[in-house]
Parts: sequence; structure tokens; C-alpha cells
Amino acid sequence: MKKKAFSGVQPTGLLHIGNYLGAIRNWVGLLNRYECIFCIVDYHAITVPYDPLSMQEKILQTAIAYIACGINPDKCTIFVQSHVPEHTELTWILNTIAPVGRLQRMTQYKEKITKAAPLPFSLPQEDEKAAKMGLLDYPVLQAADILLYKAEVVPVGEDQVQHLELAQDLARRFNNEFGPLFPEPRTLLGSAPKILGLDGKKKMSKSMNNYISLMDSPDTIRKKIRKAVTDPIPLFSKGVVFSEQQLAVTNLLTIYLCFTGKNKEEVEEHFQGKGYRELKDELAEVIIEKLKPIQEKWRSLESQPDDIWEVLKKGAEKCRKIAGETMKEVKDRMGLLR
Ligand code: TYM
Repeated sequence: MKKKAFSGVQPTGLLHIGNYLGAIRNWVGLLNRYECIFCIVDYHAITVPYDPLSMQEKILQTAIAYIACGINPDKCTIFVQSHVPEHTELTWILNTIAPVGRLQRMTQYKEKITKAAPLPFSLPQEDEKAAKMGLLDYPVLQAADILLYKAEVVPVGEDQVQHLELAQDLARRFNNEFGPLFPEPRTLLGSAPKILGLDGKKKMSKSMNNYISLMDSPDTIRKKIRKAVTDPIPLFSKGVVFSEQQLAVTNLLTIYLCFTGKNKEEVEEHFQGKGYRELKDELAEVIIEKLKPIQEKWRSLESQPDDIWEVLKKGAEKCRKIAGETMKEVKDRMGLLR
């Protein structure tokens, strides 16, 4: 029996190259070695304000993105989190062993509450703006996603490491209290676990508007890359090289490296004697070329939405079986079954 790998992406709209290089690209490499389950985590996406009218479209787009990026649905299971009720059921159970203080200290939670609640949210009249329970509980739901399938590896980007440490901790706590049931899931980081945005400062993300979408047109990609922030050339600069002192340029080189498959030395040699202008021009063309097959596949999939919904339906049926079995074991251990 193959070991299980599990991962997921929030349906927040078109995915960006950070999602692709940091996570999805690595999933493709696992398809033959693991029993892979890839989820579209809509319950996570509703922990911040969102538009219900576009949710179904975004779920569909995320499924299309998975398949267009090479996640062959014949070789794995793709499904929508809310189609498998056991995710919230296990979340409740894990809530009973999850330390609140640990959740309050989560980096992503702290970042999100500063956005959600700019005013002191102890004031009762500010309830509407205050952080909601779902946001605090977000990492417990993520742990439930993984443990429900007894996944052993979880391929993600660096920003998920802290959440996965909690999942490991909850597996351990459950096993200690109720007897061994869950494997401790291992975090699998790829070669580019943190792609910065084109501002060269923060991680590439939808909310920072510093991203290249997988569906950006060639012209948009050229424009965005041309405007990408570069570092001032340091004194005694060795030119366009990977360097701790030049994070923005290093990030552009990393994207170039990922898309060309070259190693660091080859990339530096390639840009020896060249300037930022050449780096940007070449990088834009490489991204355009590498996204082309993904975009073509995307367009053909987009014209058959019923086929995609069918993949998701089959995926949910399969997952409900596995999840149901795990919940029986969980409840049995906890004295909740007769
Ligand atoms: P999400 O939707 O924010 O991101 C999806 C995946 O993309 C990775 N990623 C990046 N990697 C490198 N550089 C970047 N700039 C970048 N931006 C995003 C993320 O690390 C992630 O792997 N909480 C998760 C979703 C989730 C999940 C799970 C993941 C829910 N349940 C269970 C694994 C297992 C999230 O919000 O990912």
C-alpha cells in the first residue's frame, strides 16, 4: 500500500506562480509514489470576508488549475472540503485537545486579525469588525483535513510550516490520550518554498497584489516583470547573483531557476556581465513560455465544466468513505460509539 500525501489550496480566485512553484508543481512529482489527495479548502476560504456569488466559480477555477498544472485526476483524488462533512466533525473533536494560546500565537492568525480588526476589538460595538472564531480555529480545521486521511506527507510552501507543526502536535496529543491512531504528518517543502512578490519584500500573494497569475497574458507578464522592484546595486557588486543582500533580485533569479530547471551556478553564469534589464526581459519570456501549455490546457478544461464537477463529485465520494472509517475509529477510541 502506498503512503498517503495530502494538500490543499484555498479557492480565492486565479492561482499565482507562488502557489505553483511553492506547492502544486511539487505535487505532480508525488503522483506516482504516493496515494495523493488534493483538496479545495472552501471552509478555510470563508474565514475572511468573501463573495458568496463567486464562490462556485472560484472552486471550479481551482480544480481547473490543479489539472492544468499536471495533477492528473486519474492518478489521484481531487475534492472540495465542504463536500465531506467529516472535516468539520473531526475539527470539533480536535478542538477539545487544541490549546487556545497556541492558536492565538499563530503568525497567519495575527496577520489576519490586524487586517480584520483595525480597532481594539474588545469594544462590544466593534463586534462586526472583530476577528471571528473560524479564523482562530483555521489551523485546527487544517489538522483535521490531514489527519482524517492519515496522511504521512504534506507538500506545502514555507508559510504553512507552523500550521503543520500544530497538526503534528494534535496527532501526538490524540494518540497519547486515546491510543495510537494518527501518523504524525511530515512537512514536505520543495526547492522554492517561499516566492516573494514582485515588490521584493512580502511573500507573493493574492491579497498583496504583487503576483503573476497563472493566467496572465504575455503582455501583462512583461509589464509586471518590467515594474518588479530590484535592489540598488551594492558597492562591489558581483552583478546579477543570488545574494542575501539582494533579496528582490535573488527572488527573480529563483523564479528563473525554477522555470528553466537550471541550477544556481548555471543561472549566475548565464547572467554574468548582464544587468537587471536583461534579467527582466529574459525572465518574462521564460515565464510566458512555461505558462503557455498550462494556459492552453486551462482553456480546454474551462470549456467542459461538467467534466470537472464530475471529477470533484467522484473525489468527494471516495473521500467520504475514507473519512467515515477514520471517524468511526476516532469515536470508538473516545467512547462515543456503542
Ligand atoms: P494557500 O491557499 O494560501 O496556498 C496554497 C499553497 O501554496 C503555497 N504558497 C506559496 N509557496 C511559495 N511561495 C509563495 N509566495 C506561496 N504562496 C502560497 C502555500 O504554502 C500552500 O502550500 N492553509 C492552506 C491550505 C490548506 C492545507 C490544508 C494545506 C488547508 N488545509 C491541509 C495542506 C494541508 C493555505 O491557506 O494555502
